[in-house]
Order: sequence, then C-alpha cells, then structure tokens
Amino acid sequence: MADPADHWWRDAVIYQVYIRSFADGNGDGLGDIAGIRSRLGYLADLGVDALWINPWYPSPMADAGYDVSDYRDVEPRFGTLAEAEALVTEAHEVGLRVLLDIVPNHTSDRHPWFRAAVEAGPGSRQRERYVFRPGRGEAGELPPNEWPSVFGGPAWHRVTEPDGTPGEWYLHLFAPEQPDVNWTHPEVQADFEATLRFWFDRGVDGFRIDVAHSLVKEEGLPDAEDAADLEWPRSPVEVDGRLERAPWRPHPFWDRDEVHEIYRQWRRVADSYDEPRVFVAEAWVDEPERLARYLRPDELHTAFNFTYLQAVWDAGYLRRVISETLDEQGAVGAPATWVLSNHDVARHVSRFARERDVPGSSLMQLLGRPADLALGRRRARAAVLLTLALPGGAYVYQGEELGLPEVEDLPDDVLEDPTWERSGHTDRGRDGCRVPLPWAGERPPYGFSPEGASAAPWLPQPDDWGPLTAQAQTGDPGSMLELYRAALSLRGRTPALGDGRLAWLDLPGGVLGFTREPGFACLVNVTGDPVPVPEGYGVLIASEDLEDGLLPAASAVWLTSNTR
Ligand code: GLC
Repeated sequence: MADPADHWWRDAVIYQVYIRSFADGNGDGLGDIAGIRSRLGYLADLGVDALWINPWYPSPMADAGYDVSDYRDVEPRFGTLAEAEALVTEAHEVGLRVLLDIVPNHTSDRHPWFRAAVEAGPGSRQRERYVFRPGRGEAGELPPNEWPSVFGGPAWHRVTEPDGTPGEWYLHLFAPEQPDVNWTHPEVQADFEATLRFWFDRGVDGFRIDVAHSLVKEEGLPDAEDAADLEWPRSPVEVDGRLERAPWRPHPFWDRDEVHEIYRQWRRVADSYDEPRVFVAEAWVDEPERLARYLRPDELHTAFNFTYLQAVWDAGYLRRVISETLDEQGAVGAPATWVLSNHDVARHVSRFARERDVPGSSLMQLLGRPADLALGRRRARAAVLLTLALPGGAYVYQGEELGLPEVEDLPDDVLEDPTWERSGHTDRGRDGCRVPLPWAGERPPYGFSPEGASAAPWLPQPDDWGPLTAQAQTGDPGSMLELYRAALSLRGRTPALGDGRLAWLDLPGGVLGFTREPGFACLVNVTGDPVPVPEGYGVLIASEDLEDGLLPAASAVWLTSNTR
C-alpha cells in the first residue's frame, strides 16, 4: 500500500508567498529569498504544510516576474540559486514543502529565444518557437486576428525587422513583453521538461502552473465570428429569472482539449521521482466538469478552485459550488482545493465588505462600491472556518491571516501592474492586494524591511496598519492571526478534516451546514440574524462568540459530537 505521505497534497494547506511583498532581507524595499528564510519559523508555527512561491526567476519585471528570461536561475534582486537551494532545505527541515511557479504560456521578450527570433527574421527556425504571423491589410499593418490581450488592447505586437522595416506580428495573450510560445514545437516541450527536472532535482516538491489552460491555441488562429466567442469568462445568462453560468463552448485559446497531452507528459516527469512531485493548475475554467479534466489520474494533481473564490456570499450558492466541485473532482479521483484570495484578485476582506449578487469576473470593479470593512472581516473569519473544514486542500494567500484589506487608495504614480497602463488608466489592476506585509511596529515599513533599509517598500503601506501587524495580533485571542493559528492547528488534529467526504445538513435558509465523520460539524450563518446551533454538539472553535447558544450573524462554528 502506498505510504500516505505520498498523498500529502490531497489535503495540504498551502501558503502563497508573493515573494516581492513577503519580507525584505537586504533592505532594498523588495521582498527576497533571505526574507522568506528569516520567516520560516512564522510559517511553520502558523500550521501550514507547504509554500507556493511566486516566480523568482530572472525577469525584467514587466509583469512582476511572470515574464521570465531564464527559467533555471534566480533573479538577482531576489537572491541567488544557492540561497534558493538553502531555502528548500531549510523549509523541509521545519516540515514545509515547497512549490514553485512555472510560466509555460509565455517567456519574457528578453528571453534569449525571443531575442534570437526577432534577430533571425521572418521564416526563420528561431521564430517557430513563438507565434509570429504576417499582418493583415495591404501592408500588413493590421494584427493577424482580433484576439484581445488579457491586460487590455490587442494580443499582437508588430516587430521591426533586422533591416529596419515594419515586420511580422507576434502573439501575446498578456503584455507585449510576454510573447506566447508555440507549444506544438518539440524544442519548447523538451525545454520546459528540462526546467521541471532542474528544480525537482533540487528538491522542489512541485509546481503551480501559470495559466495552465492557455498553452494550446486553435489551429489557424481563427477570428471569432462573434465578439462574444472571445469573452472569458462568459457573461452569465438568465434562466428562469436566475443568473446561471453560460453554457460551455469552445474558445480559440482558453481550455482547448489539446492542452491535456502536455500535462500527461509532465505527470510522467513528476512520477519519475522517488517521492513523486505534484502540480496545481491555475486554470480559470468556470465549469467544474471542464476543470476536472485537468485532474484525471494521469494529468495534474490539483487545481485552484476559482469558482469558489468568485462565489457570492449566499448559502445556496456556496452549497451548489461546493457540491459541484466535490462531485466533479471526486468523479476523477482528485481532491478539491479551496481558495479565497491570491495576488490577482481583490483581497476577500474587501470583497466581502460589498454586497453583490452576481458571481465571477468583476472582482476589481466591486471596489468602487460602498464598503463595510467590519462586515468584510467578520465574513472573512467565517469564510476561513468554512474553507478549512471542507474536504481536500486549501490555500492561504499571504496577509489574509492578518485580515489585510485591499489597499484601494494607492497613488497612481506607484502602480506597477501592466493592467493600469494597458487599460488606458481605467483598471487600476492588482497592486492593491500586493502591498508588502506588516510584520511589527507602528509605522511603515512595519518590519517588512530591516532597520536602516536603503529603500522604502516597493509599494507604500497604509499608515493605519499598526494594529494589523503579525506582532500586534500575536497573543490577542480575538485577532485574525490567532483564529488562523487555532483553526489550522485544530484541523491538523481533527481526524474528520482534510481529505474525505461531507454530508449536508438540512438547515433553515441562509445557514450552511455539513457533517464529517467522525463526529464533526461545521455551520456557517450567512444571514443577518443569530441562528440556533443543533443540540448535542460541543464547540471546537467559532469565528465569533456564541450568544446564548446562538450562532451570530455572519459567523461560523466547528462542532464536535465527541463531547466526552
Ligand atoms: C497568471 C498570474 C498573473 C500573471 C498572468 C500572466 O494569471 O497569476 O499574475 O499576470 O498569469 O503570466
């Protein structure tokens, strides 16, 4: 029988380290590997099982490191390869596994392959590793098709040929500094495998796969007949007066069936190690059935559950999302994962501070609406108890354990997310969830950088974060940090939690509840009024104090029937 340790990923709690903003060891205002190493004790004490570290490779940073110029080295501003290796060893010593972030859809435009492609000119072998095409129009002045870039504007950029004339266009689903590679090219496939092995050989336990659903594009790169065919995610449709997900239909570059063959090959690489390595897909695929395809036994191990991340705060809605996830992923034998925030979306304290009835896409647009941050925090406390009680694994995005809100008033001139420029200053982008963490003290940099640092944090921290530092919250039983610590520790000690099943309780409207065996129940009160807790249970932990046996509005509780 397989050792259960082989399946650690089935119920792991994985902490996302957004390296630029986690901890700055050398005082240049940017987080780094030295900073992570200095905080491993904090992470181990928090009670998580593994870290996922955002890209730390050499990069011109057009998209905060998601534009990689060398996949097998470390960006000097983050440290050295030797420090990276030391971090992996030290993390293992304190019981933490390490996942890195691989970016296979595109390289940086400074990657040697891309420079060679531009220099070699049209029709060259070097251009075949990317997606170069002649333009349309009389003089090739129009992009080859109408595909849009995720960050705004067209997904094509025209190069100047070596002879100085305006030339071919190349595809970039993200920023122009992120040219898409051609995944039908054998050299591309072989090189990414070599990168996987490079890091696996250094003890790395797995990879998060960046935009895992985008690698393969429809042959011929056809234009869409209708602009709606390019929409992603597709707008919900009204069915019987209710908003429902639009039915799935093929898209020219997202979630193409052909992408799965790549992951079958990657799985063979991961399984070739004595302790098999693991993958988590970043695939923004709304339909649980489509997402489950990435998780078939010979493909990837897990995927982020973005449908859960985007869910509205509504008991019926949450129940449906959870059930569909468990059904579809269970059908292929894969565990679910649950995620509330990451470096691409508005922090959930601030999302939950807004009322909304439409799930999905417009998390950033929500930020303009009136907010009740106290309510957002309360719901966030309840949400983490729900998240950690569900079957499968979970993600914690750095700073959510401190209850950090989105920073919504960053001055325009500090914004770095390419979305801001590419959208013509209509979308402020993702910097508000990327502000450096507050560790200690009363004022910026709140211990993010060492004493006497030569530079301020790369994004300014708010003046009122003193009470949110890890130090200020430590030992305060009412703090978000102590709630996370207590819940994670309890989760580790409660046999009913982690991988497994749940059974729904039929409770009055607005109350979500389920049991897990042996002897565990979780109740979430999504209503605005207190509700009774079923008889015969003892309280393990609650996000708010119970009042006369009632679970207050916007709160959650873990219960045990083993009250002896
Ligand atoms: C993923 C990353 C995001 C990045 C994009 C392009 O969605 O999470 O931060 O901008 O891919 O690589």
